[in-house]
Amino acid sequence: MSWTTFALTFPILLPLLWICLYSPQRPPAVLTNKTITLLIAHPDDEAMFFSPTLLALAPHNKVQVLCLSTGNADGLGEIRKGELVSSCRELGVASDDDVVVIDDAGMPDSMTRTWPASKIAQYLERYAADSDAILTFDEGGVSSHPNHISLLHGAREFVAGKKTIKKLYKLTSVPILRKYLSVFDVPLTFRAAARSESEKAFVFVSSSKQVRTAQRAMTDSHVSQMRWFRWGWIGLSRYMVVNDLVEENLRG
Ligand SMILES: *[C@@H]1O[C@H](CO)[C@@H](O)[C@H](O)[C@H]1NC(C)=O
Repeated sequence: MSWTTFALTFPILLPLLWICLYSPQRPPAVLTNKTITLLIAHPDDEAMFFSPTLLALAPHNKVQVLCLSTGNADGLGEIRKGELVSSCRELGVASDDDVVVIDDAGMPDSMTRTWPASKIAQYLERYAADSDAILTFDEGGVSSHPNHISLLHGAREFVAGKKTIKKLYKLTSVPILRKYLSVFDVPLTFRAAARSESEKAFVFVSSSKQVRTAQRAMTDSHVSQMRWFRWGWIGLSRYMVVNDLVEENLRG
């Protein structure tokens, strides 16, 4: 095959191969049969950013979602709590009781507010004390949202203060050019994961069926959040198709 042929067929071939041939892989042993807490800031973070991870892990683990605000910036707090529960169930969380939503005036849904790490660590102490692993955003928070980034600092404080070893995994933030590559970012993600030598990286790729499930979690569960511009994200974002999480090594 010449390079020209390859360049012309690749944009069609890759999505076709994915749709027809890809079926989800089992999670690695370190993320199987465990108690896992997904720590998010706002109802819909789980569907917009973490759906490949949730869909991969929920069938093989006890997964709990801990959301540290009601997303009340538009005065929709109560509605959004219910939407989050419905979305999490769609994404494989086993019971309504595995979705915890915190409404704390000290942690407002705000683009300009950093949340105190000690407060986040306290909520983790209360709800995630028996979790083997915490999953959350990385230093970039995907969108640089200060609420997202606060979660990592709180999770670090919590994990560092425990005697028993708890793992902390953070969702890699990718540059803006890669954000909207959908399935085309899958090869780039594997390449980046293979290159990170010091850190353990886990890649979760959704099947096309799972992507439709995640899209439904947005359109059918997070009804109050659906605006025309969200279609750009749920249709094109690589976060709807692929997640890579890096294990944070807190002991050296
Ligand atoms: C998880 O638990 C099931 C049922 O107890 C067992 O068959 C399986 O081998 C376990 N998997 C891992 C990776 O520990």
